[in-house]
Amino acid sequence: MSYGLLKEKRGIIFGALDENSIAWKTAERVHEEGASFVLTNAPIAMRMGTINQLAEKTGSTIIPADATSLEDLEHLVNESVKVLGGKIDFVLHSIGMSVNVRKGRAYTDQKYDWTAKGWDVSAGSFHKVMQVLYKQDAMREWGSIVALSYMAAQRVFPDYNDMADNKAFLESIARSFGYFFGRDKNVRVNTISQSPTPTTAGKGVKGFDGFISYAEKMSPLGNASALDCANYTVSLFSDLTRKVTLQNLFHDGGFSNMGVSDAVMQVFEEE
Ligand SMILES: NC(=O)c1ccc[n+]([C@@H]2O[C@H](COP(=O)([O-])OP(=O)(O)OC[C@H]3O[C@@H](n4cnc5c(N)ncnc54)[C@H](O)[C@@H]3O)[C@@H](O)[C@H]2O)c1
Repeated sequence: MSYGLLKEKRGIIFGALDENSIAWKTAERVHEEGASFVLTNAPIAMRMGTINQLAEKTGSTIIPADATSLEDLEHLVNESVKVLGGKIDFVLHSIGMSVNVRKGRAYTDQKYDWTAKGWDVSAGSFHKVMQVLYKQDAMREWGSIVALSYMAAQRVFPDYNDMADNKAFLESIARSFGYFFGRDKNVRVNTISQSPTPTTAGKGVKGFDGFISYAEKMSPLGNASALDCANYTVSLFSDLTRKVTLQNLFHDGGFSNMGVSDAVMQVFEEE
């Protein structure tokens, strides 16, 4: 269902790799709500992914950018303002990658140049994106910037590895940069802490099947899907949430405030 919540708004969406991506679902929903936007991803992901189909479907332009490269980001923001015909109302940062996770390296046995690379892609890139938007004065007043996080930033999920530290850093950047963006440009910055979701990044985490089922059983509303996340993001891009900023917003069916649920208890009582 469409409510026209984003009519005449312009945006940049990072991270749509395939139709499972949270950014992909968000692009579809944002399009339905009347916005126009630029799609961007790392040049290498463009070759692997199917982003062209999404661009066609949503009538959007693709501008490749490695989110760790300031040069790429400067070009992206500059071109986006031109292509869209004005300043940017919303940005979705939906990017995450850990080389240690990918290569099966344990948290207690990090290879630190991989740790640094994963930090740059997953957290540092959020600072870079905002710094470029800020310096180019590319955000429209009352705009909204959202990045996606996970609860391993606050609690221990052993197999989430160094991504837990990256997410803690990401959430801190949202608060720190959000202050300056709010004070100087009336732009809000938040992170959404999303349920485990079956995407390429999600399924790359060891033990994913176990913890997605566990979270499902623990959450009174069940896990939030990628589409649910897209809907929540639409609300944060809309004018209905203008005074929400510097927040890490849990979007997880209630999981983050649970101790134990009947469904989980049952599993242990059966033993
Ligand atoms: N899937 C989950 O369980 C889950 C849960 C909570 C939060 N998140 C977060 O949601 C976000 C989106 O992930 P997803 O689950 O949709 O998976 P996904 O694999 O579909 O998306 C990750 C994206 O990051 C992009 N990316 C990687 N390196 C990049 C770079 N250098 N420059 C630009 N883009 C780059 C990839 O190309 C890909 O499009 C991530 O921040 C992820 O950590 C995911």
